[in-house]
Amino acid sequence: MCGIVGYIGKQEVVPILLEGLSKLEYRGYDSAGVAIYNNNKVTVRKNKGRLSVLEKALSTEKINGTLGIGHTRWATHGEPSDVNAHPHENTSGDIAVVHNGIIENYMKLKDWLIEEGKEFKSDTDTEVIAHLIDYYFDGDLVLAVQKSIEKLEGAYAIGVISKSNPDQLVAVRKDSPLIVGVGEGENFIASDIPALLKHTRDVYFLDDGDMVILTQENIRILNEFGKEVKKEIFNVTWDVKAAEKGGYQHFMLKEIHEQPNAIKETLSPRIDADGNIDLAEINITKEELSEINKIVIVACGTAYHAGLVGKYAIEKFAKIPVETDVASEFRYRDPFIDKNTLFIAVSQSGETADTLAALREARRRGAKIIAVTNVVGSRISREAEDVFYTWAGPEIAVASTKAYITQLVSMYLIALDLGLKKGTLTKEKYDEVLKELRSLPEKAEQILGDISLIQELADKQFNNQSVFYIGRGIDDYVGREGSLKLKEISYIHSEAIAAGELKHGTIALIEEGTLVIAVATQEHLYEKMLSNIKEVKARGAYVIAIAKENQVEIEKTADKVLYIPETMDELTPILSVIPLQLLAYYIAVARGCDVDKPKNLAKSVTVE
Ligand code: G6P
Repeated sequence: MCGIVGYIGKQEVVPILLEGLSKLEYRGYDSAGVAIYNNNKVTVRKNKGRLSVLEKALSTEKINGTLGIGHTRWATHGEPSDVNAHPHENTSGDIAVVHNGIIENYMKLKDWLIEEGKEFKSDTDTEVIAHLIDYYFDGDLVLAVQKSIEKLEGAYAIGVISKSNPDQLVAVRKDSPLIVGVGEGENFIASDIPALLKHTRDVYFLDDGDMVILTQENIRILNEFGKEVKKEIFNVTWDVKAAEKGGYQHFMLKEIHEQPNAIKETLSPRIDADGNIDLAEINITKEELSEINKIVIVACGTAYHAGLVGKYAIEKFAKIPVETDVASEFRYRDPFIDKNTLFIAVSQSGETADTLAALREARRRGAKIIAVTNVVGSRISREAEDVFYTWAGPEIAVASTKAYITQLVSMYLIALDLGLKKGTLTKEKYDEVLKELRSLPEKAEQILGDISLIQELADKQFNNQSVFYIGRGIDDYVGREGSLKLKEISYIHSEAIAAGELKHGTIALIEEGTLVIAVATQEHLYEKMLSNIKEVKARGAYVIAIAKENQVEIEKTADKVLYIPETMDELTPILSVIPLQLLAYYIAVARGCDVDKPKNLAKSVTVE
């Protein structure tokens, strides 16, 4: 939800800001802007539309300067427009602010500031920050920002520059991500690491309430009480290429193809020399485990779908009841959570506002908290007791693929480990599942090795108005993820439904030519799925089935079959989702959609 970059140093700032913003567009892309200090004034340029619109506008003028802030927006307050784009300024245009988050009490502050004579131009909540800083400003920018944030309620990462302080970039964060990049004779702020990688690998993670004051040579960090704090530098070890397309047409396609490796990266560090799972990062003793009577998995979007598979795996292997809930609902239903509950928050970004709020609610009620996340140092990782990193590497495309697959792997590892510790899983079964899990990267590679039928089907089916996904058990969960992928990136209406529920309503929508994707990988549900496929075929549906290699007789019932390699039923989601991701991808490409940046979406949702 909005990306921020800021720079102070000796180099020309405009290219640095634009390059940084290009790496943050996944956070929002309905408008973009920059503010630059030059010639004793602050110059703001901002445009509705993609970053490319701003880039084009800036290519026709030369704005020199070595201090500036930039922003790419995902609209919350006020429609996407030039005037609502960030940076926002105070009335005289001396102070410029970029912001990620939501200021909840902005209406009250706005009314008061208008009475104080401040002139507002936009519909945004952010503009109050610029006017507030102006209100408190008496030459000391740091003091003015400090006084201003005392008045703010809500979530924010803020970057500020001012004409009166050309040697300072001030930033502050609370509940929205912000990191500091450490350079030589130059320093940076950014919402995420990829924006800095071209310049530095040394970063500071800020805590809630931290304020940072950057000069060319110096970085001062003050905590929420205004006390200077020293932090450890975190060295980013990623390959720069990890955040680039590397020859693929889209990040999404690259990330789909990175999945075999992502599975390996998540598995390998957790398997010890004897071939057993060693979850050093999760500190639950056998005694503690015996007291856990319930597990609650909470997440949003794709991560929620991984949580559903987690429920299946944990109940199957560890025999502990599991509830999986969407984070935006969880805390409003007065959930039964106590000290005997194990709470697992699943979040690629580790910054999703609803998931974070759910985690806090569970903690308040005494649960033990584990985070399963992909982002080191993220808010959710910091607030959990134990963190299980998914090691998918940076995921840039808005639609999640490789992060989802590593979330699945994490769910299985946790389930197997709990099962063995609890004694609900025999060592033989544990060894068998683990061995199969370790063979999946190769099998995933096999699927990716021949995608011609998927492309062919996408070319024929891209014009559908509506697509239905059906499945039973874990196949239903995978269908939900396939359906989400399709609607996210192709804008085709789609819905996923437990196949047995079809006849209770949804079948009324099936007519001649309706596309139905049937996920049918489970041996014990196979016959039932064949019946469901026949039901929709009888109403004219065109059915593409996902089945295991040995289930060839499905060809007699479905119109086309996308096969996945043979694997045990419990683990099929890790393979069966891949053809669904690819189908969604190629359909979206055939429709000419902007796959990596689908309309109205943002990769990380830091607002409720
Ligand atoms: C957004 C993204 C989804 C993602 C969801 C949860 O809606 O567009 O791709 O699954 O947030 O994100 P998280 O970072 O918590 O996994």
